[in-house]
Amino acid sequence: MSSSASAASSQAATNNLEAFWMPYTANRQFKQNPRMFVGAKDMHYTTADGRQVLDGTAGLWCCNAGHGRPKIVEAVQNQVAEMDYAPAFQMGHPKAFELAARLTAMMPSPLDHVFFTNSGSESVDTALKIALGYQRSIGQGTRTRFIGRERGYHGTGFGGISVGGIVANRKQFGNMLNGVDHLPHTHDLSRNAFSRGEPKNGAEYAEELIRLVQLHDASTIAAVIVEPVAGSTGVLIPPVGYLKRLREICDQNGILLIFDEVITGFGRLGTPFAVDYFDVIPDMVTTAKGITSGVIPMGAVFCAKKIYDAFMDGPDHLIELFHGYTYSGHPIACAAALATLDTYEEEGLLTRAASLAQYWEDGLHSLKDCPNVIDIRNLGLIGAIELTPIDGAPTKRAFSAFLKAYDDGILIRTTGDIIALSPPLIISEAQIDELFGKLRTVLNAID
Ligand SMILES: Cc1ncc(COP(=O)(O)O)c(C=O)c1O
Repeated sequence: MSSSASAASSQAATNNLEAFWMPYTANRQFKQNPRMFVGAKDMHYTTADGRQVLDGTAGLWCCNAGHGRPKIVEAVQNQVAEMDYAPAFQMGHPKAFELAARLTAMMPSPLDHVFFTNSGSESVDTALKIALGYQRSIGQGTRTRFIGRERGYHGTGFGGISVGGIVANRKQFGNMLNGVDHLPHTHDLSRNAFSRGEPKNGAEYAEELIRLVQLHDASTIAAVIVEPVAGSTGVLIPPVGYLKRLREICDQNGILLIFDEVITGFGRLGTPFAVDYFDVIPDMVTTAKGITSGVIPMGAVFCAKKIYDAFMDGPDHLIELFHGYTYSGHPIACAAALATLDTYEEEGLLTRAASLAQYWEDGLHSLKDCPNVIDIRNLGLIGAIELTPIDGAPTKRAFSAFLKAYDDGILIRTTGDIIALSPPLIISEAQIDELFGKLRTVLNAID
């Protein structure tokens, strides 16, 4: 092959969209009309055709500090040059310990240990495994059942989809984990449509946990896992009192409570964690995404002291938990996370959503009169607009809104016929106005 022919063929290979099987994407639709980002700074993405797109979703609920933040960029650059990797098993490096200490200092007691992972899905599977190991280590080995919730999203591992409750994420994959049951979801449009903040009705959905305990017997249940605010299923805000009641029922029955804070963690609600917002302390908290502001994959599972202590038994030289990832506490991820925490702290980002929440809520709810809107809901810097589905073509209306929004210069996210919004925590009031102004145009334009 001549050198120009080989250059042409490598160019063709580079531009061939076919090879990449894209995640959670309508591959055929995308490949006919690709939407490519090539740059990102602060609140904006740059598209391949040079347009600026306002980020209404913090990437995928992760870039909480915005994009291209100097301190994080520098920390990653320095770390990769200083030490690219250190073995995670039977060896350590200082930044992993520093990060663990800083993270646990942000959490209320007794959540004072963290186990590092590389994603939300891994955090969830890790927490489920720790729950089983814990129950066994305290002599409760019959407790092998998990309780998740309808419409829950806990990532894509077999554990996560088993306790998760989004039908589309489950139906292709058979029976998944045995011995899982689900609480009902709390989405109740007949009573709570257009709620601002926590819906008033529905705390009684927590009582369903008592029914499940009666059905299965407490001695078979290891843990309950819920998202404090369900995100990927279309933003379901917990009714007032619901999470506290779950905590009580778990306590009464020796069941561990796991909060999946992969999207609520790191300032999304205007407090560092949903644990703080709802004043409910679970036994484990799964996190990822905002821990590095999305810059490097990382997750962390916070565990209560009693859980960690239960494993610290037997001869010193034996491994206590047979679980971990090659990249648990990766040095570059740790450096990114430490710089992210610095950025959050210096700019007050973990509480900034609280000061913007009212402005955000008012702007969001001003879209109530747009066509096909059947609900609007919000908490902290999260918002959702639910649309009536097109007859016989569910999801199509929201997907059209997503495509038009992209053309109009705003990034939104859709799930089913729900538009979900979760901008970086650095968004300005003017940018909130721009986001909702453009969204109004989009909602008025689509069928
Ligand atoms: C609550 C929750 N848990 C877990 C996950 C999975 O995270 P990841 O995609 O990093 O595996 C997500 C992702 O959106 C999430 O929202």
